[in-house]
Amino acid sequence: MSFHPVMDYGAGHHQSARELPEEGPAFSFTPANVAKLEEICSRYPAEHRKSAIIAALYLAQGQQGYITRAAMRAVAAAIRCTTAEVEDIVYFYTMFYTRPVGKHIVQVCRTLSCALMGAERVTEELSKALNLKPGETDAAKEFTLIEVECLGACDRAPVVGVNDEWHECQRPEDAQKLVDGLRARGAASLTGCHLKVAGE
Ligand code: FES
Repeated sequence: MSFHPVMDYGAGHHQSARELPEEGPAFSFTPANVAKLEEICSRYPAEHRKSAIIAALYLAQGQQGYITRAAMRAVAAAIRCTTAEVEDIVYFYTMFYTRPVGKHIVQVCRTLSCALMGAERVTEELSKALNLKPGETDAAKEFTLIEVECLGACDRAPVVGVNDEWHECQRPEDAQKLVDGLRARGAASLTGCHLKVAGE
């Protein structure tokens, strides 16, 4: 008998890392993104150009909304590395999406601090409020719900990330309010990172 917990790495978890990217349409960086990427690459010694892979992937994702195989090849060409090296990063980091996602990507942290503070119940209530299972995106592409690992604000658990903003100390009973707020006011309805709030 194993003492290891059974971890459900189903479709709702790390969806971006679990699914192979599709080929997608032909992809090339816009001239503005080429210039941006070259500026970023110039911050590193030429032999360490690969340090900019993540930045290049963010530019590709910002341009197209998600990462495809065509985009990964364009990143590899721009960085002058292999596609396999780009793939490694896309599969590892959950912030890279390999399928079209909603305008609001609602990420519930499920790591220890958040799990102990009731993240699972938060996910359940968000799931009801959004009418989505973890891993799903609505037809109108407004919301995607996913479970992720530590978002780095463990002292304010449970934490829900929406795109690049945090909503902290989330309670299950607040889930509907969070969704209503996002629909009405977008990111302005989020509490934001407490470090930023504390510094203001
Ligand atoms: S465990 Fe949830 S933010 Fe760190």
